Amino acid sequence: MRIVISGAAGFVGSHMCDRLLTEGHTIIGLDNFLTGNRTNIGHLARERRFELINQDVTETFSVDGGFDAVIHMASPASPRDYLEHPIETLEVGSVGTRNMLEIALEHGARFLLTSTSECYGDPHVHPQVETYWGNVNPVGPRSCYDESKRFAEAITMAYHRKYGVATRIARIFNTYGPRMKLDDGRVVPAFLDQVLRGEPLTVFGDGSQTRSFCYVSDLVDGLYRLLLSDEIYPVNLGNPNEMTILQFAEAIRDRLNPGAPIAFQPLPEDDPKQRQPDITKARTLLNWEPKVGLDEGIAKTIEYFRDLVAVPA
Ligand SMILES: NC(=O)c1ccc[n+]([C@@H]2O[C@H](COP(=O)([O-])OP(=O)(O)OC[C@H]3O[C@@H](n4cnc5c(N)ncnc54)[C@H](O)[C@@H]3O)[C@@H](O)[C@H]2O)c1
Repeated sequence: MRIVISGAAGFVGSHMCDRLLTEGHTIIGLDNFLTGNRTNIGHLARERRFELINQDVTETFSVDGGFDAVIHMASPASPRDYLEHPIETLEVGSVGTRNMLEIALEHGARFLLTSTSECYGDPHVHPQVETYWGNVNPVGPRSCYDESKRFAEAITMAYHRKYGVATRIARIFNTYGPRMKLDDGRVVPAFLDQVLRGEPLTVFGDGSQTRSFCYVSDLVDGLYRLLLSDEIYPVNLGNPNEMTILQFAEAIRDRLNPGAPIAFQPLPEDDPKQRQPDITKARTLLNWEPKVGLDEGIAKTIEYFRDLVAVPA
């Protein structure tokens, strides 16, 4: 297939490009480098089947030639990034999603949206199943991200219902791995950065809030299977192995620097207390489940961050 993918220079986008190239596809990547990084796709510089266009997808644009699939991954994704860029986040989820749907419609291409578990907000249903409508504060600080993704899902369904676009929606849960930014505020790079620098690990609240971490190769495998599937309604993709943030901090500390202290700070506003995907649907429909355990995934991620932390600022 010839595939257009927005957010190609981002953390997940760059891994998705690698996977699609491995599968033999040709890629036109679009990115405005708001939160992404050219080095994430630097290894593809000589790849004939990969082209990167500096394009803000909230602006009007067209892509030359035919293509078979459109993957819309562009969006700030870490709380630090979307709190710094709230308007851009809302625009890329709304105008950007519409623009990407328009090119899919025009070219008769299938469309995959990377939505998020943040659509569930601070959930009252646990684990989170796709039929749960969520508990989102529409005016809280995180609403720029949560509501932009909820809008993105709504307009994706509207293009399917009104125009028959073959749409797919992935609700991604916390994912980690190489190419995350050290300073993006997400918990995996934050803990690794702190422990590798010999600083205390910062835990917000009492650390009893839970998260489930999926290694990036597992996620892109799920995204690829979903792209090829016929499922119109959202599908959760994430690792159901849930743990408290404190347990996670201790696991990283014990592995790298058992003497490192843990420092507690106030919980940010609207921080979800629980996160665990119900992946029954992905298991049944896509024959997918995560394969990389936390030890293995963290070891691969540490290798990547060790090099970054070694570079003087
Ligand atoms: N990583 C996760 O844990 C996670 C969880 C849930 C959902 N997601 C979703 O997956 C996608 C990728 O997330 P990520 O972690 O790789 O984030 P990221 O910030 O690393 O990548 C996003 C990419 O989109 C680009 N971008 C942003 N606005 C753009 C615009 N207007 N035009 C063109 N490019 C633009 C950025 O420059 C960046 O390269 C996002 O849609 C995110 O919401 C990720």
